[in-house]
Amino acid sequence: MIRVGLIGAGFIGRNHFNQYEKMPGRARVSALCDKEADRLAGDWSRIGGNIGDKQGTQRDLAGIKPYPDWHDIVADPEIDLIDICLPTRLHRETASAALVAGKHVLCEKPMALSLDDCDAMLAAAAKATGQFMIAHCIRFWPEYAYLKQAIDDKRFGQLLSLSLRRQAEYPSHSLNNWITQPGLSGGALLDLHVHDIDFALYALGQPRAITAQGWGSSPDGFDRIHALWHYPSVPCVQLEGYWDMPPGFGFNMGFTARFAKAAAVYDLDRGKPLSVYPTEGSAFTPDLPDHDGYYAEIDHFLTCIEQNRAPALCPPRDSRNAVALAHLTADAIRANRPVDVPAKL
Ligand SMILES: NC(=O)c1ccc[n+]([C@@H]2O[C@H](COP(=O)([O-])OP(=O)(O)OC[C@H]3O[C@@H](n4cnc5c(N)ncnc54)[C@H](O)[C@@H]3O)[C@@H](O)[C@H]2O)c1
Repeated sequence: MIRVGLIGAGFIGRNHFNQYEKMPGRARVSALCDKEADRLAGDWSRIGGNIGDKQGTQRDLAGIKPYPDWHDIVADPEIDLIDICLPTRLHRETASAALVAGKHVLCEKPMALSLDDCDAMLAAAAKATGQFMIAHCIRFWPEYAYLKQAIDDKRFGQLLSLSLRRQAEYPSHSLNNWITQPGLSGGALLDLHVHDIDFALYALGQPRAITAQGWGSSPDGFDRIHALWHYPSVPCVQLEGYWDMPPGFGFNMGFTARFAKAAAVYDLDRGKPLSVYPTEGSAFTPDLPDHDGYYAEIDHFLTCIEQNRAPALCPPRDSRNAVALAHLTADAIRANRPVDVPAKL
């Protein structure tokens, strides 16, 4: 049984908590840390979010050790895995400390705000005995995992174009609205768009160059990003991410992939499953697992811990490179011209 110390009982911390509850016998949240007393006591009525959680607001946390200070949960010898669901600016310090303390560490995306912070985390991981993974859930999302397999095995022929989209109303769920402050979250680029950056990197590898447009309501961050990624092998790759939609829009993520012999289309908010439209024959809906990417990412990381192997589906170096590509996207927007992507990011 893997004993989990969960840090951050906010939107995504609550979600991770729910996933561990689905894995009895494998993992158990043994300790919880949050600086907010109500959250630590199980009153989760102030927690918001945009996807993946319909549970109640009052939780029975009996038997779970409460820690107001993250240093104490990291030092707890009865914890095997530290799961970090804190605001992004705290990822470096907490993940590095937990790795030094000999814990396995799962840390929410984005890895960190700066490449310096990412590199410090990689350096801590290189010396650590525990496993380390950034929770890039889209790699594990069944529809996206299917798309990745179809790209790899060419079951529909060559990929001709890929459009990845992530669209949201302005976020309002985070505690004290830290997500809307680019200095704390990296804005829509590092908080939202990074999901598709990471998936494109996973599915297609590094692009040769990036062209991008964007705008932000504050000078140091972006609320909307439209990017073209240039590859020699795929004619059109487009990533769009924005959280500037009016209230009531909610949240959507999706993709359109045009292969030589089919198109695959998915939109979370469409009320329609992933659909494949072959150029010959009838449209069909692939059979997919009924869990979401949050469950699958944690399942993968627990398997890695159980089998003492590194998380091959989501290596931390890729997560670091996703942050590097986000910064290059910002450069491309500001320069208003294509930016070359160096072979070594
Ligand atoms: N994978 C996804 O789909 C996804 C979704 C949302 C958020 N995230 C990521 O998860 C992280 C957290 O985001 P969130 O939306 O859950 O934020 P949130 O504001 O909802 O929750 C953060 C929690 O951390 C606690 N906290 C803050 N500082 C603390 C400290 N010093 N010590 C202890 N507790 C502290 C807060 O009290 C709060 O409960 C971010 O990095 C974000 O990018 C990922």
